Amino acid sequence: MSDIAGKKIVITGAGRGIGREMALRACADGAIVALIEIDPNTLSKTLSDIHEKGGKAYGYQLDLGDEQAVKATFKKIAQDVGEIDVLVNNAMVHEAEALHETSLESWNNSLKITLTGAFLCIKEVLPMFMNRKRGNIINIGTVNAKGMFGSDAYSVAKAGVHQLTRSVAVRYGEYGVRCNTVVPGTIATEAWIERAKSNPQVFDDLKPWYPMGRVGTPKDITEMVLFLVSDRSEWISGAELVVDGGLLAGYTPMFNTIEGRKP
Ligand SMILES: NC(=O)c1ccc[n+]([C@@H]2O[C@H](COP(=O)([O-])OP(=O)(O)OC[C@H]3O[C@@H](n4cnc5c(N)ncnc54)[C@H](O)[C@@H]3O)[C@@H](O)[C@H]2O)c1
Repeated sequence: MSDIAGKKIVITGAGRGIGREMALRACADGAIVALIEIDPNTLSKTLSDIHEKGGKAYGYQLDLGDEQAVKATFKKIAQDVGEIDVLVNNAMVHEAEALHETSLESWNNSLKITLTGAFLCIKEVLPMFMNRKRGNIINIGTVNAKGMFGSDAYSVAKAGVHQLTRSVAVRYGEYGVRCNTVVPGTIATEAWIERAKSNPQVFDDLKPWYPMGRVGTPKDITEMVLFLVSDRSEWISGAELVVDGGLLAGYTPMFNTIEGRKP
C-alpha cells in the first residue's frame, strides 16, 4: 500500500499543469483529493480522468479571489470528504509585464489570487488542524521568489507565499502543523503557452541555465509534493524544497565560460 493511501488532500489550481499531475498521481496512490479550480472545463476533465482510473476525487469550481466562496467551498469539502489532512496551495495567476507596464488592477490581481488566495485557504484549514493537533500545508513557490527572472508582480506575490510558509511553520508548529514551500524551476506546462507562441524554442533556449540539461516536468514537482504529503517527511517544516535541476546552485553559463566549456 502506498504511504499516502487514504490521505485527504485539497489541491488548488488542479485543472491543469502541475496541479492536475499532483491530483492524478495522489489519487492513483490511493489518496482522496478535493480539486479546486476556477476553470470548469479543465476541472471536469481532470475529475473524469481520475474517476475513469478508479480514483476518488471531488471537484469544486471556485475563484480564490472570492472570500465568501472560499469559506463556502471548504465547508462543502468538510461535508463531502471529512477532515482533510493536507492543503496544497498551487493556484496562481501569472502576469509577465515589466513593473512600469503593470496596471494596478493586474498587480492587485496577482497578489489577490497567488498570495491572498493561499492565505484564505490556510485560514480555512488552520482551526481544524489546531484542534486535531495535526496538519500539513504545502505551498508551491517559485525560483522567481529567490532572484529576478521576470514576471515582476507574480514574483513579488510568490515571495509573500514563501514568507507565509515560515509564518505558519513557526506559529503553528506547537499544534503539530507543518508547512513547507516547494520551489520549482522552469516546468513545461500550459502556463508557458503565451511565451512559447512568441518563442517556440523557449525550453531549449533555457537549457544552458540548467546543470541537469533540461527544464522540469510536472512529474518532477509531483514527486517532491507526494513526499511532503507522506509521513516520511513528518519532521520537515518551514523549509524551501528546491526542485530546479540545479538552477539556483550557481550561474551555469558563467561557470561554463570561466571553465572554457561549451554550454
Ligand atoms: N510552470 C512553471 O514553470 C512554474 C515554475 C515555478 C513555479 N510554478 C508554480 O507551480 C504552480 C502550478 O503552475 P502551472 O505551471 O501548473 O500553472 P497553470 O497556470 O497551468 O495552473 C494554475 C492553475 O490555477 C488555476 N487558477 C488561476 N486562477 C485561479 C483562481 N482565481 N481560483 C482558482 N484557480 C485558479 C488556473 O486555472 C490553473 O488551472 C504555480 O503555483 C506556479 O507558480 C510553476
